[in-house]
Parts: sequence; structure tokens; C-alpha cells
Amino acid sequence: MPALINLQHIFKVYGSGNTEVRALWDVSLSINQGDYCSIMGPSGSGKSTAMNVIGCLDRPTKGHYFFDGQDVAQLDDDALAIIRNRKIGFVFQQFHLLPQLSALDNVALPMVYSGIPAAERRERATKALHQVGLGNRLTNRPSQLSGGQQQRVAIARAIVNRPLLLLADEPTGALDTTTTEEVMKIFAELNRGGITVIMVTHEPAVAQLTKRVVWFRDGEIVDAHMSPDKVSYGTLVE
Ligand SMILES: Nc1ncnc2c1ncn2[C@@H]1O[C@H](COP(=O)(O)OP(=O)(O)O)[C@@H](O)[C@H]1O
Ligand SMILES: [Mg+2]
Repeated sequence: MPALINLQHIFKVYGSGNTEVRALWDVSLSINQGDYCSIMGPSGSGKSTAMNVIGCLDRPTKGHYFFDGQDVAQLDDDALAIIRNRKIGFVFQQFHLLPQLSALDNVALPMVYSGIPAAERRERATKALHQVGLGNRLTNRPSQLSGGQQQRVAIARAIVNRPLLLLADEPTGALDTTTTEEVMKIFAELNRGGITVIMVTHEPAVAQLTKRVVWFRDGEIVDAHMSPDKVSYGTLVE
């Protein structure tokens, strides 16, 4: 499998002098197409910064980032936005659904920005909602759905442009155990269908459902290939 993500000696430094923060310090990481990774580590260890670089939301201070074969480390904002729109889907802890729109319209929204005609938007949004098991909830607004169902709408929205990569920062952070399982089942199915999935999580039970754990501390990767069954509550030093 070719590497979809290849970070080479990535540094991200905020501020300078005695206010300098080394958010990422010489991070190298390779993630293959079809992989399913969790990113773990203490609060402030650089996980979100790494996700922002990987997701083309932010540029590193220094280093090369090859995404899908292209060095994207120093592309301008417009070029990064095009890559995000075509190749990357995002899921967050808070679902960020628009309350006045139906599930279908929430999912169809990203396609408005990619210039896809209305009929096709509707068709693809319907299909994505079926994929996450919400084919019978197309017309419901977010307030009429459970937390797990709202997160599944957000996942449908993230996959509707058929991304290569799905990035999720604490996707189960606001969910209870049952709905966490519901959402994790969807990620596993999408990964089986070929989408590369990377998620930040604090929950060992969630990390154990992925294929590989990447462990951060103080802006550095301390273990890039941790086996998920090695993660337990004892390894979480917050
Ligand atoms: N925009 C920013 N400006 C200054 N410092 C930042 C900024 N974003 C993150 N940091 C710092 O970088 C470090 C890593 O942060 P972050 O990537 O958010 O960690 P994590 O997601 O693991 O909690 C922290 O020390 C944080 O305070
Ligand atoms: Mg974070």
C-alpha cells in the first residue's frame, strides 16, 4: 500500500523567544491508504496541531508533508482549501450541524460549495445517510435526533464528497457508551470500504477498535506503531 500521509521532519512552533511553544518538534509519520489509526497522548502534546497539519487546515513551520503524493506543506490557503474539499472529510466532538436544516440538507451543504447540481446533491446526501444507517431520518432536524444519530449525520456530511481521508478529533467525546459503539461501527465500516481513518481519542476502549495507535508527548511521537490492545487506562498519564 502506498503512503497516503507522509510527514517528514515536521516542526510547528508558536511565538518566539521565551514565549516559544514547540507544538510539534521533528515529527515524522507515515500512514498508508486504508489504515485506521488513533492518535493519543496527554493534553497539550500536539495531537490537534498534528491533525490540523494532516488535514491541510494549517501549515507547519518547517518540514515536508506529502499528502496523496503531493508536497502540501507550503501551499497557500486557496490551494489547501481545494485539497480539503476534494480529499478530506472532518468530524469533530461537537457535531456542528445547522439546527434549522434537515439531516439531508446538512449533508448536502458541502456539495453546494463544490458546485454540484441540486438533484445530484440530494441523491448523494441520501446515499451517505443510508451508509450511516439513517436512511429513515432524512427529513429530521438535529433536535429530533439523538447525539449518536447527530454524529452519524456529521459523518455522512464528511463522506459525501467521497474523501480519501476521514479525520476525527474526539468524535465520541460527547457520546455515551452505547452511541459511542454505534459511531465506532460506522467508522469501521467506512474503513472496510477503503477510506483511511485517523481519530484523536482519550478513550482506550475507542482506540482498541482501531488498527494502530500513534502516541504523542511534548510535541513528539514517542510510539508510531503501538498495538491497540496495549492501550489501557494505565497508559494514560494526563
Ligand atoms: N494557536 C496557538 N498559539 C499558541 N500556542 C498554541 C496554539 N495552538 C496550540 N498551541 C500550543 O501547542 C501545544 C500543543 O497543543 P495541541 O496540539 O492543541 O495539543 P493537544 O491537542 O494534544 O491537546 C500546547 O502547548 C498548546 O498550548
Ligand atoms: Mg486537542
